[in-house]
Amino acid sequence: MTEPPGPIDTTRPSAARMYDYGIGGSHNFEVDRQAIDAIHAAMPPGQGRHIGVENRAFLHRAVRFCLQQGVDQFLDLGSGIPTVGNVHEIAHSINPAARVVYTDIESVAVATTRRMLHDVANADIIQADIHDAESILEAPETERLLDFSRPVALLAVAVFHYVAREHDLPALLQRYRAHLVPGSVVAISHTTTDHQSQAYLEAHRRWNESGSEAMVMRTHTEVAELFEGLDLVEPGITWTSTWRPDQATGSEWPSEASACWAGVAMVPPDIVDGSRG
Ligand SMILES: C[S@@+](CC[C@H](N)C(=O)[O-])C[C@H]1O[C@@H](n2cnc3c(N)ncnc32)[C@H](O)[C@@H]1O
Repeated sequence: MTEPPGPIDTTRPSAARMYDYGIGGSHNFEVDRQAIDAIHAAMPPGQGRHIGVENRAFLHRAVRFCLQQGVDQFLDLGSGIPTVGNVHEIAHSINPAARVVYTDIESVAVATTRRMLHDVANADIIQADIHDAESILEAPETERLLDFSRPVALLAVAVFHYVAREHDLPALLQRYRAHLVPGSVVAISHTTTDHQSQAYLEAHRRWNESGSEAMVMRTHTEVAELFEGLDLVEPGITWTSTWRPDQATGSEWPSEASACWAGVAMVPPDIVDGSRG
């Protein structure tokens, strides 16, 4: 284990705790609940929760896809506050030997994950900023649990929208991708304003004025750029709700209401340091 989590700021909302509240979790404070209630009030009733639930369901399906490919090591960036069906729980239900390194910047997320993992040998969490890729890739927990000479699944699910435009997101991702050998997997979901209503744009405006970490929306084209040089698996980049859905759910929501682009790709055989050789 690394340092204990930093102090918890209950005076301003946090993205981790807002998301936790949004999908029905209990690790949040009044300041988070007020913020998310105001944001959700801008949208049709239920859409805010739908976005979070569909994103989480995409994460579950992506993890199962990795295990079906024989990939049993996971680096989960911006893993969030644990809720039902965390990466190690899904992975261990299929392969008890699977290894998971969680990372998050937020103290409640780190503390609750640590508590959950106290008797789990092959999963751990690092408190770190995803912008500091090397501190994550070279952390003792990563070195103990992940063997980068074998395929690793890099999960960046609903986290890259916290990378501001002044940071070069493709270059940041490349610092992680450079460690992935052929057969590795990259799974990404990312919020977008593509095809969204005025109500959604208002919700986004309220989020960015809430005092929480600002959220940057990216287009389908920008998300596709993150997968350049990788082999996207079918169905390519879709809404979270339509990426290999388990079954036809008959949801009342149109697919674009999940408001996040999602894709999963394999690192091809001819990759060298994260780029095509
Ligand atoms: C929307 S939650 C997603 C949680 C989980 N990946 C999922 O999809 O269910 C985003 C998470 O990213 C974390 N986060 C935001 N900015 C971050 C940063 N710069 N470094 C690490 N984590 C960050 C937040 O604390 C939060 O827990």
